[in-house]
Amino acid sequence: MYKKIIRPILFFFNPETIHNFTFLLFRTLSSIPFGKKLVENITSGNKYNKPRVLFGLKFPNQIGLAAGLDKNASVYEILYRMGFGFIEIGTTTPKGQPGNPKPRSFRLRRNNALINRMGFNNKGLDETIRNLRKKPSNLIIGGNIGKNTLTDNENAAKDYLQCFEKLFDYVDYFVVNVSCPNIKDLRKLQDNESLMDILGEIQNNNNAKPIRKPILLKISPDLNEKQLLEIIEIVNSTGIDGIVACNTTTKREGLSYSKEEIDRFGKGGLSGKPLKKRSLEVVRFIKNHSDGKIPVIGVGGIMNPEDAIDMIEAGADLIQIYTGFIYEGPSLVRNIKKVLFKHY
Ligand SMILES: Cc1cc2nc3c(=O)[nH]c(=O)nc-3n(C[C@H](O)[C@H](O)[C@H](O)COP(=O)(O)O)c2cc1C
Repeated sequence: MYKKIIRPILFFFNPETIHNFTFLLFRTLSSIPFGKKLVENITSGNKYNKPRVLFGLKFPNQIGLAAGLDKNASVYEILYRMGFGFIEIGTTTPKGQPGNPKPRSFRLRRNNALINRMGFNNKGLDETIRNLRKKPSNLIIGGNIGKNTLTDNENAAKDYLQCFEKLFDYVDYFVVNVSCPNIKDLRKLQDNESLMDILGEIQNNNNAKPIRKPILLKISPDLNEKQLLEIIEIVNSTGIDGIVACNTTTKREGLSYSKEEIDRFGKGGLSGKPLKKRSLEVVRFIKNHSDGKIPVIGVGGIMNPEDAIDMIEAGADLIQIYTGFIYEGPSLVRNIKKVLFKHY
């Protein structure tokens, strides 16, 4: 039904317009009696759950919603009722910011892909916290945190720390996002010194709490092997809890568009099917070079249940989807859960 009827209507409009419309619909459903239950029933969201414990958290199933869709934590409960085991909200920055000029999100339908250069558009920490105050305790939320565009890299650690401290009581785990290609020089924060600075400060703060929270690092698929080895070293030396692999890529491989068409989309991160091969490679590399010890959330190009199995076979402990959800709709969550339920 989604692909035959709903998607053609949604895809008739530009991605951001339809995103805003869908969120309005989700917020309306959240506010009416039985709205959430209705969504759960229509999508069979509570079926095929098989709990999985990772970094001390009990996930109802292995499939989560990747960061970037629910940037302000405004509809996480409806999304959770569609069957996700966890929802990653954000990227949240200390202050709200508009992001890059529009248009900034594009569908590449021939390749089941998206290109976006949103640029951390979000309403900031205070609004996100207001929305998270209503969170039911059994719902696992990851807080994906970033720096404001106007904060220079030398002061980035302060932004990350502020997000960490303020969100601490409202989320279940954190993801430090230094891999978005749409903020100038953000990916430079993946170098040794910057990461030690940011993760070190967060970890010191975390370890001083009565109960610490899991911290993960979200990395770019465009890192080379030397850089990936350095990341593994940093994860081990700072004692953070895991890696989210991967964010979107600035490469334009695996596309069946002409160079002129690709250029017309402009800058931005590519996600969806063309990203799958690289995401699997990165997950496999991390697992192989850490004796399987670093927990990994695998994300990038999971468009069907077979892709999900490939990601788990590559070593991912949990998986996330974004572009697949846009192209396939909520049935993708159920179909992946059904296959994982049988095989794992
Ligand atoms: C429109 C859009 C916005 C995104 N925004 C964020 C973000 O704010 N923070 C983040 O960590 N990742 C963001 N991502 C990246 C996704 O979380 C995910 O890592 C990436 O899209 C690869 O997964 P996919 O192929 O399933 O989409 C965004 C992706 C898209 C398509």
